[in-house]
Amino acid sequence: MPTERTVPEELLRKQYEYIDLIAARNAEAAKTSGRRPRAVAHTFGCQQNFADTERIAGMLSEMGYDLSDDVNDAELILYNTCAVREHAESRALGNVGALTHVKKAHPETVIALCGCMVQQKQVAEKVKKSYPHVDLVFGTHALWRFPELLFRTLAENKRVFDISGDEKGEIAEGLPVLRGKGARAWLSIMYGCNNFCTYCIVPYVRGRERSRCPDAIEKELRELVAAGYKDITLLGQNVNSYGKDLDDQLDFSGLLRRLDAVEGDYLLRFMTSHPKDASPRLFDTMAECRHVAKQLHLPFQSGSDEILARMNRGYTAAHYCELIAYAREKMPDITLSSDIIVGFPGETEEDFQKTLSLVRGVGFDMLYTFLYSKRSGTPAATYPDSASKEEKQGRFDRLLNAQDETVAGRQAAYLGKRLRVLVDGEGKSPEYPFAARTEGGLLVCCAGDGLKTGEFAEVEIDKTTLRCLFAHKIKP
Ligand code: 5AD
Ligand code: SF4
Repeated sequence: MPTERTVPEELLRKQYEYIDLIAARNAEAAKTSGRRPRAVAHTFGCQQNFADTERIAGMLSEMGYDLSDDVNDAELILYNTCAVREHAESRALGNVGALTHVKKAHPETVIALCGCMVQQKQVAEKVKKSYPHVDLVFGTHALWRFPELLFRTLAENKRVFDISGDEKGEIAEGLPVLRGKGARAWLSIMYGCNNFCTYCIVPYVRGRERSRCPDAIEKELRELVAAGYKDITLLGQNVNSYGKDLDDQLDFSGLLRRLDAVEGDYLLRFMTSHPKDASPRLFDTMAECRHVAKQLHLPFQSGSDEILARMNRGYTAAHYCELIAYAREKMPDITLSSDIIVGFPGETEEDFQKTLSLVRGVGFDMLYTFLYSKRSGTPAATYPDSASKEEKQGRFDRLLNAQDETVAGRQAAYLGKRLRVLVDGEGKSPEYPFAARTEGGLLVCCAGDGLKTGEFAEVEIDKTTLRCLFAHKIKP
């Protein structure tokens, strides 16, 4: 059952008409040039952005474009941008700036920007003024209208900017999708965020939380499993609040159980979780579901309760540790990862020590550490800050060292263990020619006859380093 937030079918049908119109233009052009037009679709940012780019690539493919990586030989270049930190924005803008040369050499190439960065009004204005070679700009809410916007850019031969979108946002079901090669696939279950952590730009650029209806999610999962995908990640900014906006009474745990009933040989992961909404019920569900990987990414951001309160996170460090203890009790081998922000405005050495001690106390398998980045329009951007850049960098380095010490021990504990892994790429050396992931998501380089990309294998760990486990296939 579609929800009231689902884009009506007749509006989506219109987009298919635009796809057909562009396909006809492209077929005509191909007759003259002797080749199908090419499009580059590049992603900056998070998994949600990668998933969005897969939809855009799906639409491009139906429009008759061949996807390519070469910006110097493409009829269309699209960058899907990120706004979460300043660094992501400057990198995207740097890359856009570099396209001036491409536009000079090939004025007919269409340059398009989409995603979180350009959903911000001031950035869209800046692009309009200072990047005249950009032809098309559309925000996160307009993604499903890409065919119409591109058609206008091509047919009217003028710049098109659309960063509109009511803050509730809309869900477009049934868009084509072109997924990457390999055994991994992303499956969005919800969009947007209601949490307004005071440092974060996401709720402003992606709008309020809206959940896809469970039927649509299950249908997509069945298609993925049937197509041979074996490592499927459910995506949302805060998957633990899945379903709050639906009438179904189905929460995230309920959704996991429903999806787990889909038959097949595959792993189900999910990200991202929020400690204020993650519950013992979720961990019970994870422990009981056979397809759900025993892996948890649970960002705690800071170990200091004062900082957590100023971040508007809605939990304490003690509550976080209780959650982890419960998860470990239910799933002793669970792999844990987290996000941490260092140098939030007003963070003192004492606050930072609490973060360090939480890191040492919990023992994470993986950490994603970020230096605080001021995002204009967020509450934290106005908070007074005292620590210097050097102090913050020093804390950041100490945090990485503490994590490396923990990881060295955790990795070493795998020596001699037998694990089931999913082979998903090339290894780091001729001696270990395959790369694989454990159920917990750890990287394993593997050797042995009969290993095949896209298949599960039983391996035994031979040696370990900080970043990788090395293993050989166990003979059946
Ligand atoms: N500065 C630094 N890190 C941030 N994150 C989100 N916003 C910011 C910011 N302004 C981090 C958080 C989040 C992850 C996706 O990015 O740790 O969990
Ligand atoms: Fe940003 Fe917080 Fe929402 Fe995550 S939960 S997207 S950090 S506002």
